[in-house]
Amino acid sequence: MSRIVINGDRRLYGSVAVHGSKNAVLPVMAASLMNQGITVIRNCPDIADVRAMQKILEFLECKVQFKNDCMIIDTVNAQSKELKEELTKPFRGSSILIGPMLVRFGSVKLAQPGGCNIGSRPLDIHLNSLKRLGASWRMTQDYIEVEGVHLTVNDVILRFPSVGATENTVMAAAMLNGTTTISNAAKEPEIVSLCEYLQKAGAVITGAGTECITVTGRGRLHSAEIIADADRIVAGTYMAAVTACGGSVFLENCKIGDCRSFLDVITGMGAKVTVKDNAIFVEMDHRPENLNYIQTGPYPEFSTDMQSIILSVAAKAEGVLKLKEQIFENRFKTAPWLEKMGADIKIEKDFAVVKGRECLNGCEVTGEDLRGTAALVVAGLSAQGTTIVHNADYIKRGYMNLCENFRRLGADIQWEDN
Ligand code: UD1
Repeated sequence: MSRIVINGDRRLYGSVAVHGSKNAVLPVMAASLMNQGITVIRNCPDIADVRAMQKILEFLECKVQFKNDCMIIDTVNAQSKELKEELTKPFRGSSILIGPMLVRFGSVKLAQPGGCNIGSRPLDIHLNSLKRLGASWRMTQDYIEVEGVHLTVNDVILRFPSVGATENTVMAAAMLNGTTTISNAAKEPEIVSLCEYLQKAGAVITGAGTECITVTGRGRLHSAEIIADADRIVAGTYMAAVTACGGSVFLENCKIGDCRSFLDVITGMGAKVTVKDNAIFVEMDHRPENLNYIQTGPYPEFSTDMQSIILSVAAKAEGVLKLKEQIFENRFKTAPWLEKMGADIKIEKDFAVVKGRECLNGCEVTGEDLRGTAALVVAGLSAQGTTIVHNADYIKRGYMNLCENFRRLGADIQWEDN
């Protein structure tokens, strides 16, 4: 495993272009399987999860070209095959292949998807939604099998607005004849961009971004092209770093609406945020102040992906933050490492209480998941002395050129391959 070495306590100045969104690109890659044609994804980030999805598509005999930031996927000759553990284990995003593979091939068998250990992450909502469309499924400890040759449209009500389950249901519905209504759907920007792609491919969709989505399909989809939005979690990571370290940073390519709840939090903590066109300017000239209370929730609420990253900022802010994690039960695994750096964090069930300290101290810490590792980088950038972040390979799953970008902003940070 690689490590990141940071000599912290430096202000950040300059500009960063935020790359395309991982969570927007992965479902479009999965959906490409359905059109038996060509899908073009522009602004596609070259990160490990995207490469892992590319590997699966190539295993299924799709042709994939990925140059600069443009991915071209040809699914004309895709073949139905069982997806073994080595393909599905690297990332949770493999679960969103269930819907597209089911409607393209009539059945799908895949090893249980892996990914970050941030909670139990069941798939019941995905599978029961597909069951409403006529599929049947069987799950063992290791495998998931779903079958359904004659699927039909229906009304689907999700028991929770799961992002992945909404994506699987919308994708499957787009290939059916007629109208499917999905209630209590997830409202994340990634759902909106997936629906945009499916519309370009021939489905008629209304309500994307609201809790009720209707999808009218015609039994087939055609070739389509999409430009991925900027990654709102990556943008949030840079904004959190400026809030913790001080300085002023210009983030290019950001859709402000997608980052709203996070911007509310950092402005509440004292950062000055100016928005111009598709860019966000973040300035911080003093120690951050803690908000009293934050809770994570489905979009547009505060994102669980930003939870550990905001803990790093809160750890050196003035005052006390009480934070409630409502989405993933194992998202607090970074807290003990922050404590090792001098943070005062008490975890009780799904609550973290953070009493801000004047400063954090660099030391050796270990990333436990993708966003937790990013949180440790943010903590290291704002800490005094040297921080070594082990398990740094997690960063490659979601961030392009993170160390180079922070270096250009004035940080002393190095990636070291072990
Ligand atoms: C997606 C994102 C992830 C983000 C999460 C929540 C991708 C690739 N990943 O993950 O970065 O943190 O949304 O915004 O886009 N649940 C069930 N049964 C299910 C499905 C989910 O109980 O069938 C539960 C989960 O355990 C969790 C909650 O619903 O508690 C939210 O999960 P979900 O929205 O499905 O997250 P993902 O799609 O896995």
